Amino acid sequence: MRVHTPRHPCHLARTIRLGKNCLGKTTSKGGIRRTSNDHKHICHSFSVKLTHDGQTFELDVPEDSTILEVCNEQGIQVPHDCTMGVCMVCPAKLITGNVDQGAGMLPDDVAEKGFTLLCTATPTEDCEIETIPEDEILEEVMQQ
Ligand code: FES
Repeated sequence: MRVHTPRHPCHLARTIRLGKNCLGKTTSKGGIRRTSNDHKHICHSFSVKLTHDGQTFELDVPEDSTILEVCNEQGIQVPHDCTMGVCMVCPAKLITGNVDQGAGMLPDDVAEKGFTLLCTATPTEDCEIETIPEDEILEEVMQQ
């Protein structure tokens, strides 16, 4: 299932497409989309393959959005609560790729093992990721 983010601001701007746009379509120069406005907004997006509850979703996640934000925009129901990386209700594990964990409470050494929180995770490259039970990440955090 391929899911796009049609309401992202990049989709509303008049643009000169120079690369992979926010819909993941590759245009002439790969990876960049610019507006024609003077502020020269540049938006990269990354492909995130998310497996949750036995379903796999292909998301295009803009570099300034969290994976949870895109799930919510698309109506994909994943557990969440605080949306600040504190409650750990939205755990996931990276299979491939990498994310910026942002300002959440996830310890660095747990994040280095591939654990992440969907509410604060912004992809830094294309990723494959799966949601995991809350207990799994809590065990890792408690071992620290
Ligand atoms: S929703 Fe609370 S940590 Fe993600």
